[in-house]
Amino acid sequence: MIDKAKYWLLVSITFTYALIFIGGFVRVTDSGLGCPDWPKCFDKWYPPLNSDEIPENFQNHYKNYNYNCVEGENCKEFDIKKAWIEYLNRLFSAVTGIVMFIAVFYLFKLRSNYKTSFYLGASALVLTGVEGLIGKYVVTSHLDGSMITIHLLIALVIISLLIISYLTIKWSNLDKYSEYNFSQIYIIKWIFALLITGIVLGTQVRENIENLLPLSAIGPFKYIHSFLGIGTLMLTGILWNKINHEESKINTRNQIKWLLNIFILQIALGYFMVFSGLPPSIKLIHMWLASIGLGIVIYILTDIKLSKNV
Ligand code: HEM
Repeated sequence: MIDKAKYWLLVSITFTYALIFIGGFVRVTDSGLGCPDWPKCFDKWYPPLNSDEIPENFQNHYKNYNYNCVEGENCKEFDIKKAWIEYLNRLFSAVTGIVMFIAVFYLFKLRSNYKTSFYLGASALVLTGVEGLIGKYVVTSHLDGSMITIHLLIALVIISLLIISYLTIKWSNLDKYSEYNFSQIYIIKWIFALLITGIVLGTQVRENIENLLPLSAIGPFKYIHSFLGIGTLMLTGILWNKINHEESKINTRNQIKWLLNIFILQIALGYFMVFSGLPPSIKLIHMWLASIGLGIVIYILTDIKLSKNV
């Protein structure tokens, strides 16, 4: 039973990360209104198979009449690809919900011994339902920037809950717990704080770009966001140096190395994005790597929490 719960939690984590990527793909391909209604798509349970299935008056679904048209067609023809991208995103969300339900089912059976894991998993499942509803408002608000931000931030909370739930079971009978010293714990907590602030400011940079502000006019958010990124990298570098030079008995050495590499790549991508006209594919990877980085920090924080010396 424990193995099944662990397996399904791992599948839930993988699916949720895939969903964050697919959601980002919907955004950067501008397919968020590919299906203008929710949960149906042009009032059907499947997306249009060809242009005959698009209602004549489809423009009425949109505030901006030029939305979702095949380029150059002046809105006479609807771009069906976008409907399929958005619809597959919804289908994948539903499958992820089912996978998480199975994980919580096994956690429920284990709840007497693994109460914390069960409550964390169940909270992730409830939040996934809430996330589906917010997805509806993302569509009905015609992709309001702050709705997209809330949608992303909740996805990050869900992934964190799943990771902690999984590790709490996996490490419940570990032979050798990590031993962190005070300064290492202090640095990791600061990395967490800077990363969260950096992510929130990153979403503000994105909202400003969506509101068609030129990068030069975005001002402080942009600079604070990139400085925070550099600060996060520096702290991770200091931590890496410390665990290599101080005698340290921690199990998360590889994760810290990964974090260092991810932050280097993330900052390189950030500057590349700014200097190369914000290519959509880089926006997508930049957002997704941030979620992976956060997952690794949560992994390390859980290890700290479960280690005996705290
Ligand atoms: C640890 C380092 C960093 C992290 C974790 C991070 C994270 C993020 C996140 C989460 C977003 C919001 C994405 C979204 O809402 O879809 C974002 C947006 C952005 N970031 Fe970063 N970032 C980092 C460093 C940088 C750096 C150094 C720059 C360079 C100036 C940069 C430039 C941008 C830009 C231009 C956007 C808006 C992109 C868009 O419209 O999707 N970032 N960042």
